[in-house]
Amino acid sequence: MATQIAQSPATYRTSPVAVDALRAHLAEHPEEKWSHTHPYDVSRSDIYYEDRWQPIFAEMRAKGPLHWVDESPVGPYWNVVSHKAISHVEALPELFSSSWEHGGITILNKLDEEQLAAQGKERFELPMFIAMDRPKHTGQRRTVAPAFTPAEMKRLDDDIRRRTGELLDSLPRGEVFDWVDKVSIELTTGMLAILFDFPWEDRRLLTFWSDWAGDTEIAMVRDLDEMRHEILREMAAYFQQLWAERANKEPGPDLISMMIHSPAMNQMSPQEFMGNLVLLIVGGNDTTRNTMSGIIHGFDKFPDQRKLFEENPDLIPNAVQECIRYQTPLAHMRRTCTEDTELFGEQVKAGDKLVLWYLSGNRDEEVFENPDKLDITRENARRHLAFGYGIHRCVGARLAELQLRVLLEEMHKRRLRVHVAGDVERVRANFVHGFRKLEVEVTSF
Ligand code: HEM
Repeated sequence: MATQIAQSPATYRTSPVAVDALRAHLAEHPEEKWSHTHPYDVSRSDIYYEDRWQPIFAEMRAKGPLHWVDESPVGPYWNVVSHKAISHVEALPELFSSSWEHGGITILNKLDEEQLAAQGKERFELPMFIAMDRPKHTGQRRTVAPAFTPAEMKRLDDDIRRRTGELLDSLPRGEVFDWVDKVSIELTTGMLAILFDFPWEDRRLLTFWSDWAGDTEIAMVRDLDEMRHEILREMAAYFQQLWAERANKEPGPDLISMMIHSPAMNQMSPQEFMGNLVLLIVGGNDTTRNTMSGIIHGFDKFPDQRKLFEENPDLIPNAVQECIRYQTPLAHMRRTCTEDTELFGEQVKAGDKLVLWYLSGNRDEEVFENPDKLDITRENARRHLAFGYGIHRCVGARLAELQLRVLLEEMHKRRLRVHVAGDVERVRANFVHGFRKLEVEVTSF
């Protein structure tokens, strides 16, 4: 199929491209580096890149569930840091809105008309149901939910197992390689390509687009944000073509066809259709990928837990929950307060931004004993907030859990042990929490 993209897909290498472009840009424009002065301004991405966010959030949790940051490069905001407070805010979606009109779901602010004009930018928006409130959210979520039922997961199980097994069998022995690229990206991107019935040879484009779409750091640098919009427009053009091809065909089991032929589709504009496709790509991509990397890193850091996994495959389902908790691949979601209210003793005003730090809620010592330890026997691992809570709770959670469970089961079947054996590089972002590179070596147990 003819695509509208500027480079051949083989030349795309996802987040490193974005991060390298950002680094090069900041080296040339040091004046654009943000200065963070507030001690609790956790919008700074260096603390995630250097993996030193834990004590900052622990200090906040010890002092209270909510903390106001009056000044930061992303404007003023509330840090919501306890498990209880995050769940409470998510359970009140009318009072704490997700909608793009109010500000959307990330810590970034959308530019107002004046700022857009001053920067000579046009507004580029892809409406998606994660950034909508009821009742619109309900109708649009219904168009994709049938793709994630237990029956659908059963249908996908064999295929996921076969692909995972083949990939594990192809891994080099006695050689250091990057687990992120060879395993985590390959498995998640392949899964999405199957879900969308996306052209297989172009599947790495899904990773590339997802990395640019989800990169909050890039979005804050003016020139790079324009590059990002350009890339997202290319993505929209690609999907428009797929949509046009499928619209005239018999309904198929893939997500694009399912969405086109869904009765709720008449509630969606072409822009919204596109936005929701992007949501599924971004939602299903970085998150599952970074958990697949997090499992390997976590087992390497806690060898007693790797041993437990090797000796007790029955622990795998709980290990999946615990690894998701421990990694928490999306650090936060944001809500905007719609009415003045009192929240855990604080006065929150209409228009205030609340950043729900899942990363912190999942390390809340009031809920999880010894929370900084990976413990695959943890009884309440399932209480993690990594999938969110309430009406927006991740619609793809079952698929993510299935992919992760199959990965661990197939590793166990092959008696594969994976050691960190080289560079570990984390993502430099305050939204996606994960690994850009994880060099490993495979042996047997
Ligand atoms: C929503 C995390 C995998 C699609 C969300 C939310 C989180 C999240 C935190 C927002 C919840 C909230 O606001 O309360 C994760 C994690 C994953 C994962 C940690 C993997 C470990 C997936 C997959 C897909 C997916 C595999 C689909 C292919 C979505 C969609 C939404 C969503 C469409 C929007 C739901 C709504 O607004 O109603 N996810 N996700 N996610 N996720 Fe996931």
